[in-house]
Amino acid sequence: MADSRKQMLVSLTAALRGARPVAWRSLSTTSLAQAAQSHDVSEAPAVDFTKPMYCERREMPLPDAPFVTQLTPEQKALKAKESGPWTQLTKEEKIALYRISFNRSYEEMKKGSREWKTVVGGVLYFLGFSGLLLWWQRVYVYGPVPHTLSEEWIAMQTKKMLDMRVNQVSGFSSHWDYQKNEWKK
Ligand SMILES: *[C@@H]1O[C@H](CO)[C@@H](O)[C@H](O)[C@H]1NC(C)=O
Repeated sequence: MADSRKQMLVSLTAALRGARPVAWRSLSTTSLAQAAQSHDVSEAPAVDFTKPMYCERREMPLPDAPFVTQLTPEQKALKAKESGPWTQLTKEEKIALYRISFNRSYEEMKKGSREWKTVVGGVLYFLGFSGLLLWWQRVYVYGPVPHTLSEEWIAMQTKKMLDMRVNQVSGFSSHWDYQKNEWKK
């Protein structure tokens, strides 16, 4: 009983896994074309961290690996020409050779990005939105300000605290001069 149920579950899982991609692939020409190139998404080349990697940082002028590792035939020809005298290379060829080894020049790396504007703008946008929300709450959600926050009430409360000598050694009442009836200077 348990065995047959397990078997059913396995075949059901397999059917669910298989059904959709197959049906979709037979309909979609793009995914058919992609399937011709690589059989499955999981077969996409993974980064091999055991190999030297290209690293684009200004403090690393010579990365462990060139930027382009899969050379096209033209690039291979250029590489072959590079081993000869460099005086025979044109300026464009020198630049193309540079671009094989490096993605960006130092000038391009130093240029910096203007992304901070987006960040500041985004922060201000959300601050403004929160402000609107708070304003809406103040108007429509919170009740009136409690009467205990009125100036009159606070004055009475302060007088009461002084009369009760609240914290008279080092705290509140210690700042009050009971002889002159004023705050100590
Ligand atoms: C190559 O440079 C471009 C900008 O020109 C950048 O967007 C990209 O991240 C760089 N690639 C690598 C691997 O550093």
